[in-house]
Amino acid sequence: MAVLERVPEVTFKTRVRDESVGGPNPFRWQDVTSQEVFGGKKIVLFALPGAFTPTCSSTHLPRYEELFDEFRTLGIDGVVCLSVNDAFVMFQWGKTQGVNHIFLLPDGSGEFTRKMGMLVRKDNLGFGMRSWRYSMYVNDGKIEKMFIEPDFGDDCPIDPFEVSDADTMLNYLKSLKS
Ligand code: BEZ
Repeated sequence: MAVLERVPEVTFKTRVRDESVGGPNPFRWQDVTSQEVFGGKKIVLFALPGAFTPTCSSTHLPRYEELFDEFRTLGIDGVVCLSVNDAFVMFQWGKTQGVNHIFLLPDGSGEFTRKMGMLVRKDNLGFGMRSWRYSMYVNDGKIEKMFIEPDFGDDCPIDPFEVSDADTMLNYLKSLKS
């Protein structure tokens, strides 16, 4: 598995609220580039196989949300959750999860994930192409650290979740300070 030095350059298709749109659903498309997400900032990103899936919803996302203030105290500018889901799905997932701090980033076409080398087939679950679970600490676009779940591969019969969790990342960042 090739490990990249920098995050790939892509354009994410996001949805943002814009009251000027009017009507009952005042949202519009907004392109967000990798440069906008990562440029000049210290970002923690974690990627998971799907919005609304059990472990992602019960543990992976909520724990990053819980620890957000601690990440900020350690100098992290933003925490990003990425999934190969479209903007509508990611928005609704964030809403049902009560997310206030984590930026839910839709990689619907899987371009970022593919360029990261993290795109896997999950046809065994009827999911199609998804992201492998991982987390990374990115400083101004440079990947300083990655935690990649074991047994990387297509149609993995299990869903390893051992190292990409929020506490592991937080402890790593703390260790940089000591
Ligand atoms: C889960 O989050 O529990 C999960 C993710 C992908 C496939 C199946 C389950």
